[in-house]
Amino acid sequence: MVKKRLTLLGATGSIGTSTLDVIREQSAQFEIILASAHRDYDKLIAISHEFAIPHLVLTGIDEPNRHLGKTPLRTAISDLAAPARVWFGEDELVGLLTDLDYDIALNAISGSAGLRSTMTVLQRGKCLALANKESLVMAGHLVKRIRQATGAQIIPVDSEHSALFQAIGNSPHSDIRTLHITASGGAFRDLPLDRFDSITPQQALQHPNWDMGAKVTLDSATMFNKALEVIEAHWLFDLPYNHIDALIHPQSVIHSLVEYVDGSILAQLSVPDMRLPILYALSHPQRFTSSLVDTNLLRLGTLTFLPIEPERYPLFYTGLEVARSGGIMPTVMNAANEAALALFIKGSIPFTAIHRLVATAIDAQTNIPDPDLETILAINRQTYSRIIADH
Ligand SMILES: NC(=O)c1ccc[n+]([C@@H]2O[C@H](COP(=O)([O-])OP(=O)(O)OC[C@H]3O[C@@H](n4cnc5c(N)ncnc54)[C@H](OP(=O)(O)O)[C@@H]3O)[C@@H](O)[C@H]2O)c1
Repeated sequence: MVKKRLTLLGATGSIGTSTLDVIREQSAQFEIILASAHRDYDKLIAISHEFAIPHLVLTGIDEPNRHLGKTPLRTAISDLAAPARVWFGEDELVGLLTDLDYDIALNAISGSAGLRSTMTVLQRGKCLALANKESLVMAGHLVKRIRQATGAQIIPVDSEHSALFQAIGNSPHSDIRTLHITASGGAFRDLPLDRFDSITPQQALQHPNWDMGAKVTLDSATMFNKALEVIEAHWLFDLPYNHIDALIHPQSVIHSLVEYVDGSILAQLSVPDMRLPILYALSHPQRFTSSLVDTNLLRLGTLTFLPIEPERYPLFYTGLEVARSGGIMPTVMNAANEAALALFIKGSIPFTAIHRLVATAIDAQTNIPDPDLETILAINRQTYSRIIADH
């Protein structure tokens, strides 16, 4: 059997690690020909030893000699088995994604840093398994055009969008009344509102149901993640915002639901484990036999739904408004949120200031309709740097 050739971007993170579990089990189906990390070279090189990956990229290290001197990185590189080679910087990653021969790219880079890779893979007309929702938030309009031009396919990795993708199947848009995206409610679903000012980064980094990277865990606590996911669903499934909503489902068992025009609702269920949507993104349109995720229906208990309270989750509602404005505004909102999270983690601002900083950045920006990629990247950088510099 010919193995599918995979490039794995963000291999050292939470989604990257879950993807490696999937590849370990499905080693007859896939070979990894490129893996990237930002700075965690120890982990990337260990991954390379296990999976015999020829191309390794460290996007956050430009020039190993200058930054690291005679360091363990250089020793580790010299220990790599041929033909493995290490590349440095985002430009090298983009170059390899442009030149190498691969079947699927899985983009699990966190945050706005994933955008250039998404665009490069799609420009080549390759299949993109997409975890990096920020790409669609910032440049959904460009992604839509590139997909139309190149025929590139995006298979969602986000559990909610994987559920929607599976429940929609081949149904036409005209059959769909509403996409219902579920949310766990994050770390502070039950915390009294008067205690929000004293939330610490350590508390915010604890997710009740999922074990995820820092950014997406914090975004779940503020529910900003769900606003990003509404935007992601809008671009993935080409449906207007008034056909997409979100609700809290504390058990994280129903990963999302599609309500059809006749009143039927189809849902996808499993215990929360990202390996399942990752496996589906890589195996689609087939299903591979797997024992990674096992859902015992008798043990699931009660499944409940709740509305999203505006006082508890103001960023979700701000995010929905911004989504409808479109243009450059989602990029500004996302960059402001990334800056606010960095400040919150450092202890420079309280949890409740995250929303204030995002709202202030949005108010200060004049919209630019239909921005090109350079404009998006420039405004993203400017917004982030300005907020960090102001604090
Ligand atoms: N985790 C989940 O369960 C989950 C679920 C759904 C969707 N997602 C989405 O998947 C994406 C990844 O999430 P995650 O939780 O896996 O994140 P994570 O654990 O923080 O891992 C991020 C990965 O991206 C790399 N990275 C960090 N900054 C980078 C930069 N500036 N340029 C290039 N690479 C960079 C990291 O490398 P280093 O290790 O070297 O820093 C790491 O490999 C996010 O968009 C998130 O919203 C995640």
